Amino acid sequence: MEAPCYGIAASRLRSWTHERGATTAYPPGSRVGSTDRALLARGGHFFRNVRTRYRLRHGRCHHDCRSTCWIGWPIDLDQASIETAQRRAAAFGLENTSFDRADIAAYAPPNPFDAIIGRLVLQFVPNPIAIIERLYGMLRPGGILALQEPTWKLWLTYTAHLPLRLSVTKAARDAFQAGGASTEMEQQLYQGFIASGLHAPQLRVELPLGNSPEFRSLLPDLLAALMPNIIAKGLAIGHLGNLNTLKDRLDQELDRENSFASYVALIGAFGRR
Ligand SMILES: C[S@@+](CC[C@H](N)C(=O)[O-])C[C@H]1O[C@@H](n2cnc3c(N)ncnc32)[C@H](O)[C@@H]1O
Repeated sequence: MEAPCYGIAASRLRSWTHERGATTAYPPGSRVGSTDRALLARGGHFFRNVRTRYRLRHGRCHHDCRSTCWIGWPIDLDQASIETAQRRAAAFGLENTSFDRADIAAYAPPNPFDAIIGRLVLQFVPNPIAIIERLYGMLRPGGILALQEPTWKLWLTYTAHLPLRLSVTKAARDAFQAGGASTEMEQQLYQGFIASGLHAPQLRVELPLGNSPEFRSLLPDLLAALMPNIIAKGLAIGHLGNLNTLKDRLDQELDRENSFASYVALIGAFGRR
């Protein structure tokens, strides 16, 4: 049985605590362990979901690859991301993985891919629909395209009854937008699949909800990570009050309302060439 050659449009790669490239909305030097762990866990879930949905198996690769196992081919624009991904792949014992530092807008793989999986990258590129068409062109016939990107409006809706949490969520969204990132990707994903000729993309949106201490911390940790951007762009956050007490006040609001918290929703789009 031949194995798929996975082109992973951009891997999960590294902690938000590391310096990021200019194309991302994330600030350099922030430490946000809980948001990083959450992103990592959701990435693993997405990847397992794609593997299960399409019954991707291990076996011998039929491309010009050297292994008897599936091949991962992660790319990212940012060298630090690549290095973190390499460390994580080594920690998981993933030997058949070849990392490329590349701009997804210019990347030209040597062989077509059996599956391309990408997450939270298209929101940072100027023309995501054109990139989806490019990715589609990198697939062999029958190959799988699986992309996941954010849609913030559900998070905002589920936070509408929590005025402080809503203000903080909006401040985080504004920081992403001020950094050039798109925060509502569902239409672009859909239109990219349609423009590629994938007329029946499957779409699924996932909104995480929770009330554990770690889950409650995701939002204030995200805001902390975005703070250098917020300052650099001169975004107003005075209405959030004393930042040293923000986390406690957010917790008190949840307790008062006897409510769970939510976090950014991700929309997944899947299709076969
Ligand atoms: C929010 S992180 C997502 C990382 C990873 N895909 C995940 O799901 O955890 C965004 C990543 O997109 C990368 N990126 C942004 N623009 C890119 C481009 N034009 N080509 C390749 N990677 C890019 C950044 O370097 C960064 O590592």
